[in-house]
Amino acid sequence: MSKLAIYPGSFDPLTLGHMDVIERAARLFDRVVVSVGVNSSKKPLLTPEQRAQAIRASVTGLKNVEVDTFQGLLAKYAEGMGASAIVRGLRATADFEYEFQMATVNRKLSSSIETVFLMTKWEHSYLSSTIVKEIAVLGGDYSSLVPEPVARIIEKALETA
Ligand code: PNS
Repeated sequence: MSKLAIYPGSFDPLTLGHMDVIERAARLFDRVVVSVGVNSSKKPLLTPEQRAQAIRASVTGLKNVEVDTFQGLLAKYAEGMGASAIVRGLRATADFEYEFQMATVNRKLSSSIETVFLMTKWEHSYLSSTIVKEIAVLGGDYSSLVPEPVARIIEKALETA
């Protein structure tokens, strides 16, 4: 049976740390769907469609990776997609508490889906979308922190903001 993993996140924007997790997940699972969701506690820079477009343009070389958006509960979405796993990246210890809570809630909502944590490369362990967003909004150079198509979409979004 082919194994599908959902890699959910805000991806506002997708960073090189996220790309590293996508590449690792694509080696472990038959299919990976990177799914842009809404984190109600974050103020977005890009619309979900812009984020999905940026991810699509960044994963063209990965043949078993698709991109989608979702609304509502992640566990229900993953179940509806027929996924066997939810993939999340783990950086340093700071991520653990939130991720532990999210994985536990998702297991309560859907006991058939496992959350699988993949550690990002050491060189990306400091990187977050929030940091990229802040640098971008304040006019700094973030081009070495995100895939090239993402940088172009952020630039365009900031021009029209
Ligand atoms: O990249 P993020 O911001 O950590 O991603 C968080 C996201 C979007 C995956 C999470 O907020 C989410 O799953 N939202 C959907 C609502 C939901 O299912 N909430 C219950 C689990 S926390």
